[in-house]
Amino acid sequence: MLKISSLKKLVTDSMAIDLGTASTLIAVKDRGVVLDEPSLVAIHEISEEIVAFGQEAADMEGREGRDLVVREPMIGGVVADFEKTKKMLAHFVKKAKSGGSNLAIQAVMSMVSDVTHVEQRALLNAAEEAGIGKVFMMEEGLAAAFGAGVLPTDKRASAIIDIGAGTTNIAVIAKGSVVHSTSERYGSNEINDVIATHLRRHRGLQVGAETTEFLKTNFVSTYLPDDISKTIEVRGRDVQTGSPAAVEITSGELYPVVESVVRRIAQLVKDTLTELRPEVAADIYDRGVILTGGGALLDGLDQYLRSFINLPVTVADEPRYATVLGLVKMFDDLKLLERVARNELNVLQNAEIPFEA
Ligand SMILES: Nc1ncnc2c1ncn2[C@@H]1O[C@H](COP(=O)(O)OP(=O)(O)OP(=O)(O)O)[C@@H](O)[C@H]1O
Ligand SMILES: [Mg+2]
Repeated sequence: MLKISSLKKLVTDSMAIDLGTASTLIAVKDRGVVLDEPSLVAIHEISEEIVAFGQEAADMEGREGRDLVVREPMIGGVVADFEKTKKMLAHFVKKAKSGGSNLAIQAVMSMVSDVTHVEQRALLNAAEEAGIGKVFMMEEGLAAAFGAGVLPTDKRASAIIDIGAGTTNIAVIAKGSVVHSTSERYGSNEINDVIATHLRRHRGLQVGAETTEFLKTNFVSTYLPDDISKTIEVRGRDVQTGSPAAVEITSGELYPVVESVVRRIAQLVKDTLTELRPEVAADIYDRGVILTGGGALLDGLDQYLRSFINLPVTVADEPRYATVLGLVKMFDDLKLLERVARNELNVLQNAEIPFEA
């Protein structure tokens, strides 16, 4: 159990960090979100040295110079490359620090609910090596709920569906505790993948990440558009000849491709909602579900889910920021942080002496 006294300091020099698959967000008490950058690094292939982080690395993606390659150190919400995650986090933390304070900072971070001990330890060690003095971890679903406005004192249940880039996390919360959760390492990036695969296999065109992201955020939707023959020209590389090329695609053509991913996510939500105890189910029947995460911004996703589960669906005000805003709220309520912090880290760090108090 963490002691309040050790938490007091948190308020003065503290950060909330949401280290996501797609983006890293940092918020500071009373200042809100101070950093919002892609979770990317650009690496020199031969020296393995990192030459750019975040937005700067993203701007190179797909058009990297010779010898350079852009990588995601986090995959599916967990650390995929320890060294790169650590360096990226250190870079972002330094950038977010105000006034060059030399104090060892402390942070609250989120983690996916089904995180393994090994994955959790990797995240913790990355944070420690990035120069964060003390790390408190809490479940992403709980943070997203608080960020979306669910009150920790509310005794009735709320359901939060966070659709991130690499994960979908469903959490049912009551009285500031998770009463049920499911999480799958499957998220909005799956849509980019199916669009790219469709174009390659059926239209003979290879496209880059920027193109699929543009199509996802500007062209596709979860409902069959009124005008299914609305077209867009997509450019890339011809699969057969290798030459620069373009094809015309229609919204009707991409609709079923995208729908297959959305249906799988909706099915996960539906299945999870059948696993609730009666009183909890009754609360959710009244209140419906809240969507958070960048994936919630997909055009028509809320309507799709509403008709799939037959319950009210609302999108949080700033869905991409819900988790980090929930994390930063913990600094206003240290008692709550003390209760929700999953600091098995002490246990983890002393893994070889498991029975020590
Ligand atoms: N306007 C939009 N329409 C559709 N999708 C969007 C939109 N804006 C962002 N996204 C998608 O949201 C995802 C990023 O969401 P978010 O920032 O919540 O992910 P993350 O927290 O980094 O990932 P995770 O929680 O899985 O680790 C990306 O897949 C991105 O393409
Ligand atoms: Mg996230």
